[in-house]
Amino acid sequence: MTKREFLARIRDWSFGAALIGRTARSADKPAKPFSSYDPLVRKLLAQMTLDEKIGQMVQPDHASLTDPADVENYFLGSVLSGGDSDPKGGNTLADWTDLYDTLQRHTSKTRLQIPLLYGIDAVHGHNNVLGAVLFPHNIGLGCTRNPKLIQDIARVTADEVRATGINWAFGPCVAVPQDVRWGRTYEAYSDDPKLVGELAAAAIRGIQGPDLAMRPSVLACAKHYAGDGGTTFGTGHDGKGFDQGDTRVDEPTLRRIHLSPYVAAIAAGVGSIMPSYSSWNGVKCSASKRLLTEILKQEFGFQGFLISDYDALDQLSPDFKKSIEISINAGMDMVMVTDKYRQLFTDVQALVKEGRVPTSRIDDAVTRILRVKFALGLMDKPAGGRDQYQKNFGSGAHRAVAREAVRQSLVLLKNDHRALPVSKRVARIHVAGKSADNIGNQCGGWTITWQGQSGAATTGGTTILSAIKQSVSGSTQVTFSEDGSGGEGASIGIAVIGESPYAEFMGDRTDLALTTADMDVVRKLKQAGLPVIVILISGRPLIVNDLLPVADALIAAWLPGTEGAGVADVIFGDHKPTGKLSFAWPRTIAANGEAHPAQVLFGNGYGLTY
Ligand code: GLC
Repeated sequence: MTKREFLARIRDWSFGAALIGRTARSADKPAKPFSSYDPLVRKLLAQMTLDEKIGQMVQPDHASLTDPADVENYFLGSVLSGGDSDPKGGNTLADWTDLYDTLQRHTSKTRLQIPLLYGIDAVHGHNNVLGAVLFPHNIGLGCTRNPKLIQDIARVTADEVRATGINWAFGPCVAVPQDVRWGRTYEAYSDDPKLVGELAAAAIRGIQGPDLAMRPSVLACAKHYAGDGGTTFGTGHDGKGFDQGDTRVDEPTLRRIHLSPYVAAIAAGVGSIMPSYSSWNGVKCSASKRLLTEILKQEFGFQGFLISDYDALDQLSPDFKKSIEISINAGMDMVMVTDKYRQLFTDVQALVKEGRVPTSRIDDAVTRILRVKFALGLMDKPAGGRDQYQKNFGSGAHRAVAREAVRQSLVLLKNDHRALPVSKRVARIHVAGKSADNIGNQCGGWTITWQGQSGAATTGGTTILSAIKQSVSGSTQVTFSEDGSGGEGASIGIAVIGESPYAEFMGDRTDLALTTADMDVVRKLKQAGLPVIVILISGRPLIVNDLLPVADALIAAWLPGTEGAGVADVIFGDHKPTGKLSFAWPRTIAANGEAHPAQVLFGNGYGLTY
């Protein structure tokens, strides 16, 4: 190890130790280490057949189950609902609860009755379920820089997840995006690893509670390990973009930027970690013994379990059985699959029989999974209190937490001639833009469907236009046109523009300029002679060089979720803007992506107030 590497290691560790110290001190009560459950685990493991052990390592999507009874036939330890994998009956709270109960009931017919861990992407609230409270995506939460608020949000999310019975959320995302053209930028808190670690630890404490066995604890999942946000442009999904690409950095750089948040996540007691689809210097994370076992489990001391990403093993080798051998021997503990779950089960049986996967590796994987099930309280008592969670689901109290999160997530980037705050008593406000009356755009991806969808009726909530109407005095008229026309004679114009919903590689972009249609909305308001306020709804910083000369005021609202009233609270000055950028805002995007200082328009930490 060179001196530079040694010093970098010390710096990483001192940073990590400081974080661990602070996290341990700040946690309500440090949770018991997962290994403290080993006496119980060993007793159960000793009773298990090889098939029952292998079943714990298999996680099919519920929509792929050929027969729900396969939960019994294959001794399944877990099931998930992927982005678009909904109950057949629909997306209500009742539909999801019935689905969970039906599958969980099958485990009671197995010999050992080991309950299922049921996993879902509750990444900004229980976002698959109609009527759930949807919070700002993490990019907005990063701008609050408020760990306590993040913990409260995570607690409310756990409450609403538990209302459906589900007990595992695939979050928080602890990516540290290095190029905002990546389609998953909005799932991350910041491009600063220290802030990511701090807020991820808070989210984990909120989701899991101070002790996993305390209600309403839900298992958290730090993802995607490691370097998912640092990939090289053009190496991504299908050889394009960033997502699932190759992160080409040396180990000290990987540790400093992409690994340090996992030190914080482990210190916060995270019970599961999801390896990334992406690669590190050409080696798939899901195949890397260096990453999964040597660094994460041996050096960082992670005692929970690793869950692969959705069919990620298909990317390791054309031979599925070979992929399974590579990944499990590298340290993967549970495999997330769709149609090939039966083949996964029989391939692992064969790999063990052929001596290609040692039984010690199977026992280690199942030990880790069972530790978490004991810690979650799954093994001793049925999770009680569901009727209370169902009563709180989508409640006013939950919406109040989300509205506060929206207020604190907004970043004021420009405010000339005191255009903001707007008086509630002006004669007329003309609102415009595609995202003014559009819950779908407000919520972004991972909302009811995987990609999210534009539209007013995606799920219940308050659009920004409705919130403006509800805020003004009786004498104030509020008019609206999506294209910006009709503003003549108004006192002020408010344009709500930006991005439409997307998720994962579907959001990779090479060009971050505003659309011509969006710019036309702003120009029409200007030509009508109005002071123009722009509210940007986006999953990342966009190129605003053409916008700035036309807009009198500009607020980055990110993807605020269902509680649009939080935006109106800041527009009318009921709450001053306090958000500070958690990402550098580029002036232009260099060909290779870096936003060099010369190309930074607003730095990380920038944000105005009234
Ligand atoms: C997706 C995502 C991951 C998610 C998983 C399950 O492809 O990469 O973030 O948790 O599959 O939906």
